[in-house]
Amino acid sequence: MKRNTIIAGNWKMHLSYPESVQLTEQILSEYKNYINNHTKIILFVPFVYAQSIARLCLHRGEIYVGVQNMYPEKSGAYTGEISPTMLNSIGIKAVIIGHSERRTLFHEKDEFLAKKVKSALEHHLIPVFCVGETFEERENNQTQEVIRTQVTKGLFDLSSEEIKNVIIAYEPVWAIGTGKNATPEQAQEVHSYIRSLLQTQYGSSVSDTIPILYGGSMKPDNAAQILQKPDVDGGLIGGASLKAQDFIAILQSVPQSNA
Ligand code: PGA
Repeated sequence: MKRNTIIAGNWKMHLSYPESVQLTEQILSEYKNYINNHTKIILFVPFVYAQSIARLCLHRGEIYVGVQNMYPEKSGAYTGEISPTMLNSIGIKAVIIGHSERRTLFHEKDEFLAKKVKSALEHHLIPVFCVGETFEERENNQTQEVIRTQVTKGLFDLSSEEIKNVIIAYEPVWAIGTGKNATPEQAQEVHSYIRSLLQTQYGSSVSDTIPILYGGSMKPDNAAQILQKPDVDGGLIGGASLKAQDFIAILQSVPQSNA
């Protein structure tokens, strides 16, 4: 079963507006040389730039714009929040849900994240649902337990039809922004565990189709090895997505067999 490869940039709270336009234009001027029918790019940009960046990317093909969070309600008295219908109205296609920075710094819990996933799907936004263990949890051999809880609580209320539109990102917390990536073997082990959970719950016709991305210090010099693992279907890239050259280099390292 051939799954799409997805190379996604998570800009987090970085870049000024002119810098974000420049980065997008640099990516747009080069990405076509390194892309094919099975590779997609998603740029997860700050809310305030989302509409402009989505316009720049409109009709360019295989490159989509997403945001890094959303509130699960359609509208209402939620001062400061952004709804899925607002995102629909400016051409946003995807949303990161459950990033470890939101789980930790903003205390977002599994139940709330499950609600966001459901709401995103109802509004035809692709949720990129993040899971991952801390260093301490890995040291205590709790990686599988943590991943199982996050996947089960965040996703398993979805029907088979719904979950087919979800992308999962495995992002070990100890690897995010630390320069210390998981080894290709460590990534493959957890990715295949996630796929086995999906298979048990939904069967292989579903589990075989869901892209599972790796995130955590993915860089041009480690991307090729990680991306060649059979259950790694792309990357969610933070730091290295802020430089067009690095992001394009990661795109170039998508193995030809996936291309
Ligand atoms: P990083 O971030 O590539 O800078 O480690 C990844 C992420 O948090 O999505």
